[in-house]
Amino acid sequence: MIYLDNSATTKPHPDVVSSYIKVSEQFYGNPSSIHAFGEKASSLFQKAKQQCGELSGLPDSSVIFTSGGTESNNLAIKGSAYALQGKGKHLITTVIEHPSVLEVFKELEKEGFEVTYLPVNKAGVISINDLKAALRIDTILVSIMYVNNEIGSIQPISDAGKIIREYSNARFHSDAVQAYGKLATDFKNVDLMTLSAHKFNGLKGSGLLAVRKGLTLNPEMTGGGQQEGLRSGTVNTAGAVALAKAMRLASEDQEQAYPTLRTCQQMLRAFFENRPEVKSVSSDHAAPHILSVTVPKLTGEVIVHALSHKDVYITTSSACSSKTNKKSHVLTACGFSDRDIRGAVRISLGADQRIEEIEEFIRIWQEVIPPLLKGV
Ligand SMILES: Cc1ncc(COP(=O)(O)O)c(C=O)c1O
Repeated sequence: MIYLDNSATTKPHPDVVSSYIKVSEQFYGNPSSIHAFGEKASSLFQKAKQQCGELSGLPDSSVIFTSGGTESNNLAIKGSAYALQGKGKHLITTVIEHPSVLEVFKELEKEGFEVTYLPVNKAGVISINDLKAALRIDTILVSIMYVNNEIGSIQPISDAGKIIREYSNARFHSDAVQAYGKLATDFKNVDLMTLSAHKFNGLKGSGLLAVRKGLTLNPEMTGGGQQEGLRSGTVNTAGAVALAKAMRLASEDQEQAYPTLRTCQQMLRAFFENRPEVKSVSSDHAAPHILSVTVPKLTGEVIVHALSHKDVYITTSSACSSKTNKKSHVLTACGFSDRDIRGAVRISLGADQRIEEIEEFIRIWQEVIPPLLKGV
């Protein structure tokens, strides 16, 4: 099998799985129980929480464990909007966010919040001037993703943070689901940051929201008051320990993985540049693990299925939209034609991708795709 759909999900690292199993088997007490067995679980949980905070890269932060990127985005955005609505009701985001951000903003619009959606250029990047112009006295939250999941465009998070600090009192949230462990990140001027474990060889159903200390949020989940009242429900000690392990491995491996990812991406770029049927979608400045291209004469689905028959796995523009047949809002925002969008596919690499797999992918593409073009 050649798995090139790592932006949809990654294979859990064996050490992450074994730490999850070990904690589940040996320390299954409820951290809220006051007996010694509960206290042992509580101390493991607290240690994992501290490690995740440090590994997040968000200065002076604390983490809230969640079920993944979607929940963390909901908590960051709704939690901030409701907590700060007395100060203003203006919010800013971009047109190319993941649905777990965009849909939340649409909900908030229905509740009377006003949202500015920043446009992007052909490369899928916002303009800092547009951001500056959009900031207002009543802006309470800005949410900008770090790396786009469909085309890999990288947003100028560091510059955006500086502008937000300088020209407003707004909070700054970044969905860093596709960035963590893949490229050097800068969260110096970020207040809230979303991560999802299964995107960097962790487990599904596990993620976190890193929150700068001192910020108030309205909880999404109320109940027993766990996690400082911000996310009620018996805490998942094994999940927290496994997430800390996945973060540590991803951050340690990042420097080593980066050159291989870049080499694999360059090999793919060089190959596609010489294929007459292919047009590039991702810009040359995209993240090292995502490459989107289009074959305007075919549909993305046809390409995905043809490769799938050869045990090669890529996807149409994103995993969440691939079954709904919805036109990609990201490619639309970048100005691609309907035809280009229909033919788009995403190849996404994993931290442990091997060069031989890319060579094999190239060989299989040459065998499988040209015959499909005959007669179209
Ligand atoms: C950029 C981005 N944000 C958020 C999510 C949602 O994460 P999860 O699947 O953990 O809910 C994804 C998943 O594809 C994503 O790519």
